[in-house]
Amino acid sequence: MSGTDTVRHIDTGQEMTRFARGWHCLGLAESFRDGRPHGIDAFGTMLVVFADSDGQIHVLDGYCRHMGGNLAQGEIKGDQIACPFHDWRWGGGGRCTLVPYAKRTPRLARTRAWPTTEVNGQLLVWHDPEGSAPATELIPPTIEGFDEGRWSPWQWSSVLIEGAHCREIVDNVVDMAHFFYIHHAYPTYFKNVIDGHTASQFMESKPRPDYTPNPEKLWDGTYLRSEATYFGPAYMINWLHNDLGPDFTVEVALINCHYPVTHHSFMLQWGVAVREMPGLPADNAAKLAGAMNSSFGEGFLEDVEIWKNKSPIENPLLTEEDGPVYQLRRWYEQFYVDAADVTPDMTTRYEQEVDTTHAYELWQQEVDRNMAARKTGIR
Ligand code: FES
Ligand SMILES: [Fe+2]
Repeated sequence: MSGTDTVRHIDTGQEMTRFARGWHCLGLAESFRDGRPHGIDAFGTMLVVFADSDGQIHVLDGYCRHMGGNLAQGEIKGDQIACPFHDWRWGGGGRCTLVPYAKRTPRLARTRAWPTTEVNGQLLVWHDPEGSAPATELIPPTIEGFDEGRWSPWQWSSVLIEGAHCREIVDNVVDMAHFFYIHHAYPTYFKNVIDGHTASQFMESKPRPDYTPNPEKLWDGTYLRSEATYFGPAYMINWLHNDLGPDFTVEVALINCHYPVTHHSFMLQWGVAVREMPGLPADNAAKLAGAMNSSFGEGFLEDVEIWKNKSPIENPLLTEEDGPVYQLRRWYEQFYVDAADVTPDMTTRYEQEVDTTHAYELWQQEVDRNMAARKTGIR
């Protein structure tokens, strides 16, 4: 028997040819208000981000339409960005406003201006290969109390991930089991809800004591309740309720967002804010947010190692515990087709809870073995 017909093969799929339609976060809005233009490699090109004299942030194609100069190396003059090559001025709306040395400025000339918005202190741009007007109803929601200053300032980080398509990070939404193996937590509850342009993950989990440096200091009731929602293809808000001690629950907002750089690289960004509360003064909340930013960073880097080294796979082989990978990908596809080609199977509400009980039992045994081995010093 040759058995070749029983071998399962990986379908690595086609390379993507377009970038997702949707709102993409480029970073903290304040970081662009330093009086300088910023160049951002994104969507297969380069963008220039600059703030005008009112602090209004604009995003233009980064290469000057005159002779291709790099506007990010230019200067902000008044409300315009001035190209370093021949000083042509471009307004935030994309118009050429002045060619200082020329008798006549080509005033009808325009470069591409990217629609922007600010939410939760972050700058978002709208990308659509079809060039549609930005969909304001798709802007991610404001985090309750954020604009009123009830959260610590964002602790923000980013990392360029090369050698992987950004769908890899979105796949994580339905991936219950990787939390145990990659993030050293065991999920006790796991559910996904896909609906319209949102995809959510509801999870409850405990940390693995066998991966905790001082497990004896870990409070028995340490527990994490997490609600995470992608609003569109690239911007997730994760509300985390951390039970860290008796009557001590820390409310954390984690932003997990990215923008594509090329079809096989993306900029992953994450920000952490801690809600101020009695018993947690502003200073401590900010410190805690900083510590959590690092620990989430470590978590993302554990994912990154996997993404960079794995194969793209269109036909994953799944068990009951693996969650609705295919449904999630169908949902994700809505951002990669023309708006007219979005079909109900991409957007219709779909819910699935993963039964964690069997996995939990097995994992408990694995953790117990590791803890016993650690005590006897074998490990
Ligand atoms: S290339 Fe920008 S001014 Fe000439
Ligand atoms: Fe992950």
